Amino acid sequence: AQNARETLYVVSQFASGFFANELWTGVDGRAIGLSYFKERGFREDIIKKFELGYSPDVWDALTIQAVNSGHKEEYLERAGLSIRNDKGKLYDRFRGRVMFPIHNFTGRIIGFGGRTLKTDKKVPKYVNSPESDIYHKSNVLYGLFHAKKAIRDTDNCYLVEGYADVLSVHQAGVENVVASSGTSLTTEQIRLISRFTQNVTILYDGDAAGIKASLRGLDMILEEGLNVKVVNFPDGHDPDSYMHHVGAGAFKDYIENNRKDFILYKANTLLKEAGNDPIKRAGIIRDIVESIAKIPDNIKASVFIRECSHLLQVEEGILLSELNKMRAAKL
Ligand code: UTP
Ligand code: MN
Ligand code: MN
Ligand code: MN
Ligand code: MN
Repeated sequence: AQNARETLYVVSQFASGFFANELWTGVDGRAIGLSYFKERGFREDIIKKFELGYSPDVWDALTIQAVNSGHKEEYLERAGLSIRNDKGKLYDRFRGRVMFPIHNFTGRIIGFGGRTLKTDKKVPKYVNSPESDIYHKSNVLYGLFHAKKAIRDTDNCYLVEGYADVLSVHQAGVENVVASSGTSLTTEQIRLISRFTQNVTILYDGDAAGIKASLRGLDMILEEGLNVKVVNFPDGHDPDSYMHHVGAGAFKDYIENNRKDFILYKANTLLKEAGNDPIKRAGIIRDIVESIAKIPDNIKASVFIRECSHLLQVEEGILLSELNKMRAAKL
C-alpha cells in the first residue's frame, strides 16, 4: 500500500508538470490559459509559485503522454486523472481547463481543481479530483503548504472559499491564507489549522451562500476551541474580486480594519434580516448564546456573554442562565 501511494504521488507530480508545461509552452496553453490568468490579474511569480497549469482541450493529451512516459494506466485511473469509457479506453478527466494543483501540507501534489474557461452555465465551473488513496478532500486545505510559515509567524489563518481567493490574497502580500475549496468546512480542516495557530479569520464571499457558510463555519471553529473573526465583503465581492477591485494595499487595510469578532458579526448579520421585530430579536439573542455555548473554555465564554449583554442590551444574568441551560441540554 505504501508503494501504491508513492506511485500516485509520482503520477500526480507528472500530471502537474505536464499541465504547467502546456500553460507556459503550449500554443493553446499560452493563448488561452496563460492569457486567462493574466486577464484576471495574476502575476507570473504567483502562477509559478502555485504551479498553475492548463489541460489541453482534447480527449487524451495527458493520458497519452503519461503512458508514453511509462506511467501505468491503473495509476492514472486511481489518481483520478484518467477515466475509462465503455469501450475500455482511457480519456482525460481535465480538458480545456486552467489547472490548480492541490498540495498536501508537506508539499506533495495530491489532486487538482480545474476551472472552465467557458461562460456557459451548463458546464460545471470547477472539476475537482475525486477521492483517492492520497486525496481525501475533507482533510485538505488548499494553499496550506504555501501558507503554513506565515500562519505561524502571524499567529492567524485567513480562511477563504476558493482557489482564486487564495492566489489573490497571497499576491496582495497576505500569505497566511487557505481555502476549504470544493467542500464545506470540516472539523478535520479546522484541526489541521490548529496545528499552526488558534486564530482563524473567515473571508467568505459576500453573497447569501457565503454568509450562510460563514455562520456555520464560525460555530464549528468555536466548537474546536479556536478563536474566530469574520470580515464581510461588499455584496457580490469575494476576496479575489475585491483585491483586484481596490488594489493590494487597500485590500490589506480593509481586512485588517474590518475584522469583527464573531458576536458582532453574527449580531450585525442577523439583525439586518430581523429589523425591529422583537420576537425575531429575541431569537437572535438565543442564537448568539447558542454559539457562545459551543466554546469549550468557560472563562472565554463568560467574556463573550458580557460582550453580548452590552451589545444587545440584555442583562448578563439572563444570558448566563440561558447559556447554562443550553450546556446542560447538551450533556
Ligand atoms: P465560487 O463559486 O465562489 O467560485 O466557489 P470562485 O472560487 O469565486 O471561482 P472564480 O473566481 O469564478 O474562478 C468557491 C469554491 O468552491 C469550489 C471551488 O473550490 C471554488 O473555488 N467549487 C465551486 C467547486 O468545487 N465546483 C464548482 O462548480 C464551483
Ligand atoms: Mn460564491
Ligand atoms: Mn467566489
Ligand atoms: Mn471568485
Ligand atoms: Mn479577479
